Amino acid sequence: MDIPLPPESTGTLNSLLHKRSSTKSFGDRPLGLEQLAALVWAAQGRTAAGRGVTPSAHALYPLTLTVLAGNVHDLPAGAYHYDERHALHRAMAGDHRNAVAATTLADRTWLRHAAAMLVFSADPRSVNGHFADQPPQGHRGERYAWLESGHCCQNVYLRAAELDVGAVVIGGFDDDRLAALDILPDGHRPLVMMGLGLRA
Ligand SMILES: Cc1cc2nc3c(=O)[nH]c(=O)nc-3n(C[C@H](O)[C@H](O)[C@H](O)COP(=O)(O)O)c2cc1C
Repeated sequence: MDIPLPPESTGTLNSLLHKRSSTKSFGDRPLGLEQLAALVWAAQGRTAAGRGVTPSAHALYPLTLTVLAGNVHDLPAGAYHYDERHALHRAMAGDHRNAVAATTLADRTWLRHAAAMLVFSADPRSVNGHFADQPPQGHRGERYAWLESGHCCQNVYLRAAELDVGAVVIGGFDDDRLAALDILPDGHRPLVMMGLGLRA
């Protein structure tokens, strides 16, 4: 038996869900610093109540957000780690977008034109250790980190839809090559990346 559901409601979040899509063609215009700030806050910011903008198992918040800026107004090219006090800590100078795009399995040619890229990462030993008492033994923490990174990406997609900024999530990349670029914190492994920028 099928039960017809009430019609879809309206509202801001609903309209953003309708608008959300992946962009795979980025233009040359730089991303504004305010736009980038809004997107990284949606990814990993803290709320006025002191919580994260995403749920996190045990409220551990084990993820680090690395921002690869290359075409952002008023932000020198570099690899930055997002600080929960809403600041960017420069880990490395220089434009790393091409090198990061080159670690993808199929998306190098267009992804390198993204104005900025985001890489979400976690230290698997640390998260697995934290959740060592939960089955599957030694792996539960990693699973939670993967799940949390998905929440981050959807937040970014929705904020990007609101700002009319192009966004795309990329899961197909060579983990070892990406980790070898030394842009992530020590011991961290990449979970997922995103490309951001104004559409072509
Ligand atoms: C877990 C995951 C991994 C993805 N990996 C890639 C990827 O490696 N390369 C790519 O071009 N798109 C990737 N995408 C984006 C999808 O191609 C895109 O979401 C899909 O085509 C649906 O389009 P839409 O997001 O505009 O609705 C990924 C999406 C998800 C959820």
